[in-house]
Amino acid sequence: MTSQPEETAPYGSGASAPAGPAVKRVRTHHLREMKERGEKITMLTAYDMFTAATFDEAGIDMLLVGDSASNNVFGNETSLPVTVDELLPLTRAVARSVKRAMVVGDLPFGSYQASPEQGYLTAVRFMKEAGAHCVKLEGGAEMAPVITKCTQGGIPVMAHIGFTPQSEHALGGYRVQGRGETAERVRRDALAVQEAGAFAVVMEMVPGDVAEQISKELSIPTIGIGAGNGCDGQVLVWQDAFGLRTGKMARFVKQYADVHGVLLEGARAYAADVKAATFPGPEHTF
Ligand code: KIV
Repeated sequence: MTSQPEETAPYGSGASAPAGPAVKRVRTHHLREMKERGEKITMLTAYDMFTAATFDEAGIDMLLVGDSASNNVFGNETSLPVTVDELLPLTRAVARSVKRAMVVGDLPFGSYQASPEQGYLTAVRFMKEAGAHCVKLEGGAEMAPVITKCTQGGIPVMAHIGFTPQSEHALGGYRVQGRGETAERVRRDALAVQEAGAFAVVMEMVPGDVAEQISKELSIPTIGIGAGNGCDGQVLVWQDAFGLRTGKMARFVKQYADVHGVLLEGARAYAADVKAATFPGPEHTF
């Protein structure tokens, strides 16, 4: 295990950080150490201040301001239309609202694939303008030069392989990647992004046995979504995990709450009170 120097300034001195006891920020070396001692890593998406602060309070290790904001915040059908300018304010809100969690800015479709320079300049915007602690980008071996450019420029990169939603049309839809002989391609991608300098890698919709084998082979942590329990950590989109979104869910989603039901009930009760003129009451009135 690589020993890291103690941090001298505890997190929490930032003007916009919520007040409270000093808490140590999760860093890339902590994630590596968690993998080494077999402690699972937790990651959720977050796109705004209150969810970010709540998930941080719950001890979630990493918050991903995913390009899934496209279809979970902005009302698009896929992640493709969302832009850097749309994601930056969401990332800034999340970064301002957490004390401990590592905040991952997600590079959207078209903002990094053209060249390592384009990728680096986009990643710089997420770090500089939004306060992200690292960035995530989709792609395997073909993205190695972008990953290297960013990491050499001081930006930690989380890679994302297996099913990559930004390539949904090229991949022929939402399909498991790495079944049968294509398992070797996913494995090669994993090794390539590690070699290029990624500090972690998301594996999406990869067969559990393949993901487990890759997780054993890599020294960097793997974060699974639809990749089974053999990964070093897990990520879910919060609207899926906590039931704000309704309807058919992907097989890999487990629902832990019914936020939609709670909001629906609350909104109906509020509407009934207003219609019946029972809200506001004297106690709500100046
Ligand atoms: O954007 C996102 O939410 C993601 C996760 C599915 C990993 O990339």
